[in-house]
Amino acid sequence: MRRIAHLSDLHFGRTDPAVVRGVIDTVCRLQPDLVVVSGDLTQRARSHQFRAARAFLDRLPQPQIVVPGNHDIPLWNIFARGFSPLRKYRRIVTPDLEPFFADGEIAVLGLNTARSLTIKDGRVNRRQIAVAVQRFSAGGPHCVRILVTHHPFDQPEKGDAGDIVGRAVLAMDSLGSRVDLILSGHLHLGRSGSSAVRYPGSGALIVLAGTATSTRMRGGEPNAFNLLEIDGNALVLQRLVWAASSAAFHVATQETFIRQGGGWSAIS
Ligand SMILES: [Fe+2]
Ligand SMILES: [Fe+2]
Repeated sequence: MRRIAHLSDLHFGRTDPAVVRGVIDTVCRLQPDLVVVSGDLTQRARSHQFRAARAFLDRLPQPQIVVPGNHDIPLWNIFARGFSPLRKYRRIVTPDLEPFFADGEIAVLGLNTARSLTIKDGRVNRRQIAVAVQRFSAGGPHCVRILVTHHPFDQPEKGDAGDIVGRAVLAMDSLGSRVDLILSGHLHLGRSGSSAVRYPGSGALIVLAGTATSTRMRGGEPNAFNLLEIDGNALVLQRLVWAASSAAFHVATQETFIRQGGGWSAIS
């Protein structure tokens, strides 16, 4: 059994200090086997914001899989945006843009979907898809293969392709039967759903995390993060939500899924 704390959209530079402390305290108490952070570590990709994000990560358990988001690319510095968009992220947070963790029960790959040619949209490219195919080819039949990207592969609310990562169809053509779980953020909404709805024939559970620490809320959702408990073909997804009144995170929802017939089914 493996437990993963899935955090996203930290947005240092626009965080609530009480919530930041709450995340650190709660995640440390939960003692997950892995911490995943699916992008937007900063608000405006400034050095001091990256240093605050780095200090935050240093207080969370290891190992960690961290990927950048669109906010981690400079917005106004056109030169930096064009020629070295992730220089500060690589220097201060991590030089690894394709972090990978595997232990026999889970195999977790992070990919960078942030691009400098768009303001907020993201994309995967053919080389990254090939890396994922190669990484997920290893591991036995019981290994749960997990892809981490900032931009989501589904957008449950609107049902259109507005915020979905570019080239998602191409990626799912290659990865649909090789990946079991996709962890993302960007929308600042906590959601889950089957990839088969948008990508017929695929068998992944798509999980989005809300914003863990930012004051940039959407849809009236409070700060939140996910805790996933993976035990072979069973998965429990908890959504922990910040309650300002008690200044603590508590479990708001819990869903259980069983992996069978090439996909996940929710059980009540
Ligand atoms: Fe964000
Ligand atoms: Fe984002």
